[in-house]
Amino acid sequence: MGFYNDFILPRILDLAMRNKVLMPFRERVIGAAEGRVLEIGVGSGRNLPFYRSPVREVLALEPAPRLTMARNAPRASSIPVSFLEASAEAIPLDEHSIDTVVTTWTLCSIPQAAAALADLRRVLRPGGKLLFAEHGRAPDEGVRWWQDRLTPVWRRRGGGCHLNRPIRSMIEGAGFRIERIETGYIPGPKPMSFMYEGSARRQYHRRNPDSRRRRTRTTWITLTPMGIRINMRVKRTNIQLPGWQAECTYMPAIAIIERWWRIFAAGFGYALH
Ligand SMILES: C[S@@+](CC[C@H](N)C(=O)[O-])C[C@H]1O[C@@H](n2cnc3c(N)ncnc32)[C@H](O)[C@@H]1O
Repeated sequence: MGFYNDFILPRILDLAMRNKVLMPFRERVIGAAEGRVLEIGVGSGRNLPFYRSPVREVLALEPAPRLTMARNAPRASSIPVSFLEASAEAIPLDEHSIDTVVTTWTLCSIPQAAAALADLRRVLRPGGKLLFAEHGRAPDEGVRWWQDRLTPVWRRRGGGCHLNRPIRSMIEGAGFRIERIETGYIPGPKPMSFMYEGSARRQYHRRNPDSRRRRTRTTWITLTPMGIRINMRVKRTNIQLPGWQAECTYMPAIAIIERWWRIFAAGFGYALH
């Protein structure tokens, strides 16, 4: 915070973000958005003119007090835009309330990017998508060397911007499945110009109730009718049913054995209760 960060830096960033080379990225990324959209780090609002139907509503998030420029940014359509003064690490929205999340050249600057991605995942509805255009870690060793060395200085003057963030693995590591990604250099100094553009969807964890699948495994159980042990191999399932039978999907097999046991026991004068 301070005069430089609050007043000078947003204007410098706006100048950098006007770069014409970035326009095709904006068109493609925003063109794929739909429904209720959350854009994080909206900055001076350079993406706002690109929103069209099937976008229903845009929630433009930016940490205070940098929203002034976005509020005054031109908009080409009548799609409603609301502004959220907040940080992407703690989004003041309900879970599963967003259809599309947009991030353009923002993941580089967020101090706790992993926490922000986790919160983006939380607010996205099942099946919702994350659309991104970001600069980050280059594949070439020489360029990476420069990115690592320049980042500490660059970050201090560039609003926290890291040149060396591995965007793809950060997104995947936060529980997203990449659907489309294109990478490459745009014109400019190489440490600052390696781009990642694409889309990703929320990935479900196995234990997530939304994605619970029927899983079976084989196990041994012991029946002791009248004190006689019978070891049986049965299939267990993780499906919740009431009582002991829930453990066994092989009840017909047990029923057959019991029936034969009754016949056998009756023949020898035993009774099964
Ligand atoms: C390089 S600018 C990009 C602006 C805009 N996304 C664009 O494409 O023109 C990076 C933006 O990330 C924002 N930012 C930094 N930390 C943030 C955070 N914790 N949460 C949300 N946005 C953040 C900055 O204020 C800035 O507006």
